Amino acid sequence: MSFRTIEWRDNKVVMIDQTRLPAEEVYNEYDDFKGVAEAIRGMIIRGAPAIGVAAAMGVALGAREIIADTHESFFKQLDNVCDVIGRTRPTAVNLFWAIERMKRVAQSNRHLDIKSIREVLKAEAIRVEEEDLEICRAIGRNGAPVIKEGAAVLTHCNAGGLATAGYGTALGVIRAAHEAGKNIRVFADETRPWLQGARLTAWELMKDGIPVTLISDNMAGWFMKKGEIDCIVVGADRIAANGDTANKIGTYSVAVLANENRIPFYVAAPISTLDLSLDTGDDIPIEERNSQEVTHVQGVQVAPDGVRVRNPAFDVTPARYIAGIITEKGIVRGDYRRELQALVGE
Ligand code: MRU
Repeated sequence: MSFRTIEWRDNKVVMIDQTRLPAEEVYNEYDDFKGVAEAIRGMIIRGAPAIGVAAAMGVALGAREIIADTHESFFKQLDNVCDVIGRTRPTAVNLFWAIERMKRVAQSNRHLDIKSIREVLKAEAIRVEEEDLEICRAIGRNGAPVIKEGAAVLTHCNAGGLATAGYGTALGVIRAAHEAGKNIRVFADETRPWLQGARLTAWELMKDGIPVTLISDNMAGWFMKKGEIDCIVVGADRIAANGDTANKIGTYSVAVLANENRIPFYVAAPISTLDLSLDTGDDIPIEERNSQEVTHVQGVQVAPDGVRVRNPAFDVTPARYIAGIITEKGIVRGDYRRELQALVGE
């Protein structure tokens, strides 16, 4: 891939600014954890696994900023750093997964001096990033066989290199099938209101030379009905114990339409996106965002002043519509409650 989503460089966190793509390829540098928290909230970096990497790096930056004479003071301030980062976006569980991982590592190194704990946290954040890339490649390898030679694959939102440390989850499966020479084509839903499909998925697939056709969200059902879509692969923000999956708003409609048209609908996600503490998708917190994302398109107002707006950023697809959940450890199918539990228990 010819871009870097996020990296730790010279004790700064560097991210490609996703609010400015595809018009401009700009990299922002952060040397304070509050800047990273704002970048997550403002969707300069977005996509569940990438949010997890940013959170880990934010905690490592925060640890460097703390001024403390005692371990007690250091750990108290570190908790505050974690709380600030944890309040940015509520749905993608990878955020909380990464924060908990960083807290655990800090605690298990409590016997070290503060300077060394900072170093351990930095190394751990870099490891989260490196592992995510490996995990995406494994998801790609495991998922590629579900995509048939010559298939047209529809995806929603952006679950690509930009949403991860690189390579992607849903787009990882698509990349792996493309690399295997399967001659596939992608249909990308534009994904209103934030246009992740139009702005990001189309951009990164074109950069990699993977054939992509952009459609507006309301066209997906029609193309399915006409037999022009063979398979659907999307990412996930949080998967409950029964397999119900939260992903970008509009995913549920795609899944229902896929089911109606007997098209297999797959979810591709790392194990860090599972939240088996939640019984069903009803328990997943859904972020509601700014009304301006709906009333405006790229800064241009398209609705009357003062109109009432709702803007949930995610929806939940019931597990019964999902043909399989593609993870780094393999594809889970059928009895999700049992199979997901078995997967994490391994
Ligand atoms: O609001 P976003 O852009 O962070 O939402 C992203 C999605 O819904 C993705 O599909 C999901 O995080 C999976 S990314 C590999």
